[in-house]
Amino acid sequence: MSTVRTDFVMPVGIDDLAIYVPKLYLDYRDFAEARGIDPQKLEYGIGIKRMAMVDTNQDSACMAANACLKLMQKNNLAPEDIGRLYVATESSIDESKAMNSFVVGMLELIYGEDSLEHAGGIECKFACVSGSYALYDNANWIRAEENNRKAAIVVVSDIAKYDVGSTGEYTQGAGAVAMLIKEDPRLLAFDAKVTSTTIKNEYDFYRPCGRETPLVNGTYSNLLYLIQVRKAFDSYKEKAIRTGLIRINDGESITDHIDFFTVHLPYRRMGEKALAYLLRHEWRTLPRWELVIKEIGFREPVPRDPRGTIESILLDTVFMKADEQFRKSFMQTSYYNEVYEKKLSSSLEASGIIGNLYTASMYMGLRSLLEYENKKNHNIGGKRIGFGSYGSGSSAMVFSGVIQEAYKEIVRDMNLEEEIGSRTKLTMDEYQSLRENQLTLSDSYVRAKDEFILVKIGGTTADKAGFREYCFCD
Ligand code: CAA
Repeated sequence: MSTVRTDFVMPVGIDDLAIYVPKLYLDYRDFAEARGIDPQKLEYGIGIKRMAMVDTNQDSACMAANACLKLMQKNNLAPEDIGRLYVATESSIDESKAMNSFVVGMLELIYGEDSLEHAGGIECKFACVSGSYALYDNANWIRAEENNRKAAIVVVSDIAKYDVGSTGEYTQGAGAVAMLIKEDPRLLAFDAKVTSTTIKNEYDFYRPCGRETPLVNGTYSNLLYLIQVRKAFDSYKEKAIRTGLIRINDGESITDHIDFFTVHLPYRRMGEKALAYLLRHEWRTLPRWELVIKEIGFREPVPRDPRGTIESILLDTVFMKADEQFRKSFMQTSYYNEVYEKKLSSSLEASGIIGNLYTASMYMGLRSLLEYENKKNHNIGGKRIGFGSYGSGSSAMVFSGVIQEAYKEIVRDMNLEEEIGSRTKLTMDEYQSLRENQLTLSDSYVRAKDEFILVKIGGTTADKAGFREYCFCD
């Protein structure tokens, strides 16, 4: 068990979280049939069974507001308890006006006009990693005692949407996670002074202004994710050792001292691969590696170009093929599987039934980890979670936190299926109509209840162009 640090005055972190998942979904079998793909590829190769889809009257702002309202109601929070409201997204609805201003507007429909005027916040963008930056900034706002005893809310909300017929199309999804950030949190206290980042100008996945869907180089983005998170992890490791957060004895790996991993999850299988990549990197210089190699039966291939840059690796097709083979064999070893079962598997459950949530996917993974570990009757108070966050374009952030003893009162009632509520399966024809924007806001497939929806875009007069009107359906 990891020791909870006591050498800093104020533990800050996630006190509670709430989720919103839209009520429509695509079933992987219907999708596979329509696209002529083996359903087993989606179920096992990608790890998806249901992809959540937004209705005609939903956008990422109303998902964010729905998650936020749930969080506030669940915790009996009044607007005056909140000092900051940040929204992190890559599904922006305006090139200038920040998404959190729309969310404030919606919340004020419930709490009263100007009830949140005292607060502040921005919309954050850096593909899927911006939510982690938002958490970090708000934790430091509290550590700096600028918060006047108020809490912050960070909402991550996204609609993952790819071109019809592309290989990204089976990694879609939609949803939001709202997190309450405060001192003495009940759920997770962030480890201070170890958060580590990388940043690089890349075009692995990007969405030029005006485009509804991203331009993406799948193989490149997968590899870049692994490399950048690994580099941020190297920096995290250096800080964790230097600050004394983690002490490593001979023959040990830092991964032995991290009890759970939660990583960015564009699709479930990507999480499994990220763990494999990290363990290979951390274990290959340790005595245990010989035992791993013995179980695999052949040695790890080495790239011919010693520079080891992403470009040189991708060009080395012989290495790439041999490395894929090695990776697959490594993922079948008892050594990998022990860590996978113990430290990662619970965080992947939600991804398979909701899909990609971009900024929200890692945090839905956190929620999944808490719920499924609880279902296994594991007591995880005091355990350390290592987070591997990645945003294309590209930046990675690695950080960690310790689950607080009070977490039990929060996870006790967690039930993902119940919280999502009953869902409506879209036919492929209905999905097609949604994708072709054939429907109007009022043509929704599901009747909204107890949630915010979008009722109008643009007013009747020119001075209201671009206005978005929302209402709360009770
Ligand atoms: N039964 C079981 N498994 C099968 C199968 C079958 N019949 N057929 C294929 N598979 C397996 C493959 O062996 C492969 O497994 P491994 O990953 O273990 O090798 C897996 O299914 C995927 O198949 P492909 O290698 O053929 O990959 P693909 O062409 O389907 O593309 C993808 C996968 C590149 C992820 C694509 O979905 C994509 O471009 N997605 C969008 C980009 C993306 O998500 N990138 C991730 C990193 S960037 C990021 O994370 C930011 C973000 O959120 C967007």
